[in-house]
Amino acid sequence: MKKMPGEDLLPLQAQALAAIEAAGTIEALEEVRVSLLGKSGALTALLKQLGTLAPEDKKTRGAELNVLKTTLTDALAARRETLEQAALTARLAAEKIDISAPPRPEPLGAIHPISRTMEEIAAIFGAQNFTIKDGPDIEDDWYNFSALNIPSHHPARAMMDTFYLNASHGNRPAVLRTHTSPVQIRTMLSEKPPIRIIVPGRTFRADHDATHSPMFHQTEGLVIGRDITLAHLKGCLIDFLRAFFGRPDLPVRFRASYFPFTEPSMEVDIGWDRKTGELGGGDWLEILGSGMVHPNVLANCGIDPREFQGFAFGMGIERIAMLKHRISDLRLFYESDIRWLKHYGFSPLAPAMLHEGF
Ligand code: PHE
Repeated sequence: MKKMPGEDLLPLQAQALAAIEAAGTIEALEEVRVSLLGKSGALTALLKQLGTLAPEDKKTRGAELNVLKTTLTDALAARRETLEQAALTARLAAEKIDISAPPRPEPLGAIHPISRTMEEIAAIFGAQNFTIKDGPDIEDDWYNFSALNIPSHHPARAMMDTFYLNASHGNRPAVLRTHTSPVQIRTMLSEKPPIRIIVPGRTFRADHDATHSPMFHQTEGLVIGRDITLAHLKGCLIDFLRAFFGRPDLPVRFRASYFPFTEPSMEVDIGWDRKTGELGGGDWLEILGSGMVHPNVLANCGIDPREFQGFAFGMGIERIAMLKHRISDLRLFYESDIRWLKHYGFSPLAPAMLHEGF
């Protein structure tokens, strides 16, 4: 049976329990505790009186006061617990984050189709062990033409509408490079075979309409070794085109052509539908130039053509990007129109669109 604190203590107990229950904050509760159990608290005062009692009375009174003390201490602890819980609940509610709220849209950039196409080209040739080279946009006449077996006043120079600069490199006229082929020369002069490179970069020709821009992009390719043949050229380019366009069955045709820096030279066509622009159709579309590096070009770079041979190719990046993504007007590539970029640009996180076998 629960011990009672003693008749005369009941009003104090009732009053104290009511005050504890009424304390609305931890601080208020602490004040109540001090008023009961502090140095000059009500219960402390009663406990102090114990010393004045006769030993007989002291025992019963002591027991009664102890019961009261325990009751009040328990009530204080219980109230404290309740108040702390309430404070915590209030804090959690106040600090709640609404994870169901829709995120604010953040403007996100897109990868330009030219950059994206260059990355894909690099990925495919990278898997064939090619490395990437670059060269200057401002070239001199010798690298852009002469070393490539296009001597001064040769009619082949008229094939490319060249931008000549007023500046010159020594006594050689400076030009904006009309193709990436001068990087073939720079590489062969600075490195010994075997050579296996691609050269993505800017090129310039005085030409401007829906399919030609005075600045455009090409990727050159050059492979030089002791036993590199036309069969390697064909295999390498067929694999590339099928991987790039994502069609393992893409028709590819090699057609005899002429470039001063390759012999024999071949234009490469892919199957395409003239009416719908669909890849794989029954018409042919010229897509790049290629050939076996001309012995004169090797000799111009100090490579003995009796010991080494190889192939080269050059393709327009805009051209293949337009075909792959069905972009019709070349000029929009360079206008930085945000609506066009949103539509044709790529998410930085999107995987490359190359066929699975690759
Ligand atoms: N340089 C040529 C062009 O711009 C392409 C080409 C490169 C052809 C290499 C053959 C070999 O048209």
